[in-house]
Amino acid sequence: MATELKDRIGIVEGDITTMDVDAIVNAANTTLLGGGGVDGAIHRAAGPELLEETRRIGGCPTGEARVTKGYRLPAKWVIHTVGPIWTGGDKHEDVLLANCYRNSLGAAVEVGAATLAFPSISTGAYRFPLERAVRIALKETKSFLEADQTVQKVIFVCFGGEVYRAYQEALDEVFD
Ligand code: APR
Repeated sequence: MATELKDRIGIVEGDITTMDVDAIVNAANTTLLGGGGVDGAIHRAAGPELLEETRRIGGCPTGEARVTKGYRLPAKWVIHTVGPIWTGGDKHEDVLLANCYRNSLGAAVEVGAATLAFPSISTGAYRFPLERAVRIALKETKSFLEADQTVQKVIFVCFGGEVYRAYQEALDEVFD
């Protein structure tokens, strides 16, 4: 079973906006009105219709996920989730980050997305410690995939070598 689960995980270096998967996850903020980092890249690549749709949604609480179309992106869907801002770890940041992964995977199942790509949520502007975030991401995804058969492939898209190495190092620890 573990081997099969591991086959449903991918770790790549690259730009999530180029991923040809059913859904990509955006590390958004609670307004859903765009921003810098991966949020800015996704809005730039998707085009202005994305902001029109997110404006209509009217925001998203930390830890939750909202789905929009992908517009000019290769991906059919964008799942916007809002990660916690790291303030030292005593404001339930670990739980909120785990909620981002679980709720994004749940949203993917709701729209029938079989392939999904995640950025490294909260580890940029929101300053969540990388190794800690990576283990939460992999553990939460593993437990979700153990119970779900709709999502066939989850790809962690790392923007740079440091994040890529962090995922590679944690993968065997979490999946073996
Ligand atoms: N593809 C994949 N990953 C990317 C891309 C990209 N094109 N651009 C940036 N990243 C990576 C960053 O290098 C980091 O590893 O995404 C990870 C998350 O960083 P941020 O985008 O800064 O997201 P986060 O830390 O969750 O902060 C969210 O930043 O952009 C604003 O509106 C956003 O207020 C929100 C906050």
